[in-house]
Amino acid sequence: MARVTVADLQEMKTRGEKIVMLTAYDFPSARLAEEARVDMILVGDSLGQVVLGYDSTVPVTMEDMVHHGKAVVRGSEHALVVVDLPFMSYQVSVEEAIRNAGRLLQETGCQAVKLEGGAHMAETVRRIVQVGIPVCGHIGLTPQSINQLSGYKVQARTPEAAQHLLEDAITLQQAGAFAIVLEGIPAPLAELVSDRLRIPTIGIGAGAGCDGQVQVWHDLLSYATTFVPRHIPRHVKQYATIGENIRTAIEQYAAEVRAGIFPTMKESFRMPKGALAGLAGDLRSEDELLPDWPSEAEFSSYEEPEGVAEENQIATVGFGTTLRSGF
Ligand code: KIV
Repeated sequence: MARVTVADLQEMKTRGEKIVMLTAYDFPSARLAEEARVDMILVGDSLGQVVLGYDSTVPVTMEDMVHHGKAVVRGSEHALVVVDLPFMSYQVSVEEAIRNAGRLLQETGCQAVKLEGGAHMAETVRRIVQVGIPVCGHIGLTPQSINQLSGYKVQARTPEAAQHLLEDAITLQQAGAFAIVLEGIPAPLAELVSDRLRIPTIGIGAGAGCDGQVQVWHDLLSYATTFVPRHIPRHVKQYATIGENIRTAIEQYAAEVRAGIFPTMKESFRMPKGALAGLAGDLRSEDELLPDWPSEAEFSSYEEPEGVAEENQIATVGFGTTLRSGF
């Protein structure tokens, strides 16, 4: 299946079809998002918090984005992949912004970049687009400015701020942005902006009136109950409790190792009879050691015998199964 293009997204808006975007930060998360058929994958600089353990996106570097972007692109085939330009990679000069945007495209293989900021970033957006790099804007709550905003708060609630945000959105569209993320703004304002724009809006904490939605992988799946910030934002709906499933599985694994229950003969490999003879003085025979071993045929390769994989599953997390089955 061909990869989604910026033109496809534009057509989706025209047809009134909602756009689904999800963040991903590595190969398995990208593959799962692909298999679930999202339209866009964002390699968000939110990876600073949910993957790298920082308390904001501010410390994230170009190297971080390239590293994770490459893995995500390797795991994707259909979704349009957008990689975030991290803090200070595009604000100092337009030249630096173009160079870094180009680096993300060339080194990761992504199809577009995203940057934060409104009208003051319009010239930068225009010049990046001019050299052939699709740019997604991001206004409202812009996490790279967390120190200026003094916290993760809903933005543009006054008439003046709402007007300012609308003008920012129109200016970014005029500069050539192919889409705009609207984060943490009142739903009626997001709907109004979406109606006024020709290009799609992608909301997060911006209500149902946007042309699409984006969520952070770890929020959506509750993969990160102990990650920073430690509260669950109001805009998040948790569709699964993957973090708890994983913790339970690891606890069970640890308990079984400590109790000598894992591994069993099913997870072990045998040797041809007699191969150990003479290696040590008083080796017990295999029959004495594990008298109930199944037939030799079941241990002829590194693969688990038919049916054993399912029997051995101790959690329904699914990552391993997905990775092994391939596309
Ligand atoms: O970095 C990120 O994940 C984002 C989303 C919150 C839109 O920018």
